[in-house]
Amino acid sequence: MLPKQMTSPEDAAPREVLLEVDQVTLRFGGVVALDNLSFQIYKGEIIGLIGPNGAGKTTCFNAMTGVYRPTSGEVRFDGEQVSGRKPHRINRMGIARTFQNIRLFPEMTALENVLVGADSRHHTSVIGALFRLYRVKPGPEELPVVDSTNGLVRFWQQVRRSSAQVFGISRHTLEERAGERKALELLRFVGIADRANDLARNLPYGYQRRLEIARALATEPKLLCLDEPAAGFNPAEKEELLDLIRKIRDRGFTVLLIEHDMRLVMGVTDRIVVLEFGKKIAEGSPAEVRDNPKVIAAYLGEPADAA
Ligand SMILES: Nc1ncnc2c1ncn2[C@@H]1O[C@H](COP(=O)(O)OP(=O)(O)OP(=O)(O)O)[C@@H](O)[C@H]1O
Ligand SMILES: [Mg+2]
Repeated sequence: MLPKQMTSPEDAAPREVLLEVDQVTLRFGGVVALDNLSFQIYKGEIIGLIGPNGAGKTTCFNAMTGVYRPTSGEVRFDGEQVSGRKPHRINRMGIARTFQNIRLFPEMTALENVLVGADSRHHTSVIGALFRLYRVKPGPEELPVVDSTNGLVRFWQQVRRSSAQVFGISRHTLEERAGERKALELLRFVGIADRANDLARNLPYGYQRRLEIARALATEPKLLCLDEPAAGFNPAEKEELLDLIRKIRDRGFTVLLIEHDMRLVMGVTDRIVVLEFGKKIAEGSPAEVRDNPKVIAAYLGEPADAA
């Protein structure tokens, strides 16, 4: 096992390994989708995973998030073994992902889709939720608002507020409200709060992609894995997505990004790992990878020595 503190060649400060793919091989029948693959992800970086179609990028995500179990080798996260655990357990450990083909709940609103992501963080029991037994004194910002200009509605709002002050609010309700505030804040963060109450299926494509990111962030991950989040975007939309990815990193998340668009990957990542036929053919800074003859050959479909 590798030491937790690694020193990168380009800067002398030690960097902490967050995730480690250690000699992972994954076979589907005769197809070797990942071939003895090893690389590390450091805390706080944006790392790119690139390679031609069928190189094994999505399979690598699937091996990291528990969709598939490696045929051999191990994935470790924060020092703990991940391989062999169920996807929801791995999500709780702190790895969240988006999908190459968008997977949302189409009949739920944008806000509800994010709440589903956050739901695993609720603490009240099912029985408590059913009977709303646990009542607590709400803070000033948790009290029902009195803001209507309609006299009758305003009277009703005042009754609800006074009742909450006297009898308290159930803990479950408070958690729900806090969850909604947080979900809305996440929608604002990814730039789609104006459509919070629209059904996911009615959202424009770009909004759906951002909603997937918000939902993944709602699980409060340490590592966010994005599988081609800019697929189908025009250049302006891609540029905006780059900004969002940087903002996500600046908030303290570590990001693993699968992307086909080389320019986009180069513009946002600190390091890049390149796959071809399930093997790592290069790893390094964007500039190192861009000038690597093996990478050029893989992308142009020519043998390395001819490049
Ligand atoms: N469930 C599966 N069953 C059989 N073969 C699979 C399965 N999933 C992936 N593969 C094969 O594994 C290889 C790697 O596929 P993967 O989807 O990981 O590639 P990728 O790098 O994500 O490609 P793309 O850029 O097209 O998304 C391919 O040959 C693919 O056909
Ligand atoms: Mg893929």
